[in-house]
Amino acid sequence: MSSPAKCATVLTCKAAVAWGPGEPLALEEVEIDPPEAMEIRIKVACSSLCRSDITQWESKAQPSLFPRIFGHEASGVVESVGEGVTEFEVGDHVLTVFIGECQSCKHCFSGRSNICQKLGLERKGVMHTNKKTRFSIKGRPIYHYCAVSSFSEYAVVHSGCAVKISKDAPMDRICLLSCGVATGFGAVWKVADVSKGSAVVIFGLGTVGLSVAQAAKLRGASQIIGVDNNPRKFEKGKSFGVTSFINPDDCNEPIPQVIKRMTDGGADYSFECIGDTGAVTTALQSCSDAWGMTVTLGVPKTNPEVSLHYAQLLSGKTLKGSLFGGWRPKTDLPSLVQKCMDKEIHLDGFVTHDIIFDNINEAFNLMKEGKCLRCVIHMQK
Ligand SMILES: NC(=O)c1ccc[n+]([C@@H]2O[C@H](COP(=O)([O-])OP(=O)(O)OC[C@H]3O[C@@H](n4cnc5c(N)ncnc54)[C@H](O)[C@@H]3O)[C@@H](O)[C@H]2O)c1
Ligand SMILES: [Zn+2]
Ligand SMILES: [Zn+2]
Repeated sequence: MSSPAKCATVLTCKAAVAWGPGEPLALEEVEIDPPEAMEIRIKVACSSLCRSDITQWESKAQPSLFPRIFGHEASGVVESVGEGVTEFEVGDHVLTVFIGECQSCKHCFSGRSNICQKLGLERKGVMHTNKKTRFSIKGRPIYHYCAVSSFSEYAVVHSGCAVKISKDAPMDRICLLSCGVATGFGAVWKVADVSKGSAVVIFGLGTVGLSVAQAAKLRGASQIIGVDNNPRKFEKGKSFGVTSFINPDDCNEPIPQVIKRMTDGGADYSFECIGDTGAVTTALQSCSDAWGMTVTLGVPKTNPEVSLHYAQLLSGKTLKGSLFGGWRPKTDLPSLVQKCMDKEIHLDGFVTHDIIFDNINEAFNLMKEGKCLRCVIHMQK
């Protein structure tokens, strides 16, 4: 049986605290509360850095949400469970997720969406249930990110925002399924449902974009065109299935024109994996007029509005967005974990750096400079 919540006490642990937007993280001793009802506290094993962490860390839009602990792509071991939790026991291995699945709201019941009405994307830096933080330093609250905050030796998450995984899954690789890789695979397999022989274009060849490539290759796409302004991504992309590469900086004509020529009228599917709303427009323009579909995944740094000529839609194109590739975490993630264990999905190629927790700022620098895919941060000594 799990240890009752009352036995869990406040813990002191090391966490990487961002005191202000874009400021290097400071490794601080923080206090972390025991889990409240329906929450669990996790000893974080590994937490990889996703572009979304960087975007929010750099953003000056919500200065009141600092000091803050980022990190949302993580694996760990359940350390204690709150009242009412029956799904998890101390010692279970888990992945955290940034959108939960309560399995009881209208959306969860519908089977048509992964946007849970109770445990959807948390944007206010607090926990879903009582709108408070579980971290503090000398009584001062430290805000969460996506109700996960895994750049800490311990994290408290809602039990609906964790998925139990096999103890055989390697913690330092499976954490990638907690966000980036699952997002790319879901965009292809679930949201777009890419078919064999399709022409696919991917804008942005980071971990999300290259997951799209790997998933499209597994579906038998005949053309996988990668668009990225970092020339280093071309060689990297090839090993994930990218068949041709366009660097917008080397093009003398509009990208949609180039793609339409390469694909005899436009791509069947295009994926925006940069986080740039201008690229959403370009991705839609690059699709086939007849049936092209654009799936947009990126989180924009600035300018959240998309502009497009309505004729783009009248011709029959589709523009879709998706969080976490449309996967319902508890329902769908276990089968993706199994596919990784069976080596159907390959995670190793995404990990360019393994970094100890003390050097977490190195990971932030590498991503800012476009020199990594995923840096896996090992949270325990
Ligand atoms: N929808 C979701 O659920 C979800 C999940 C994870 C990440 N994201 C978002 O997806 C995006 C990609 O994430 P990632 O971790 O792969 O990021 P990344 O930084 O590793 O990859 C982005 C890629 O885009 C390229 N790029 C940047 N500007 C460009 C431009 N103007 N033209 C062409 N290429 C350009 C970069 O060189 C890089 O290769 C981010 O916006 C991230 O926040 C969304
Ligand atoms: Zn729900
Ligand atoms: Zn992410």
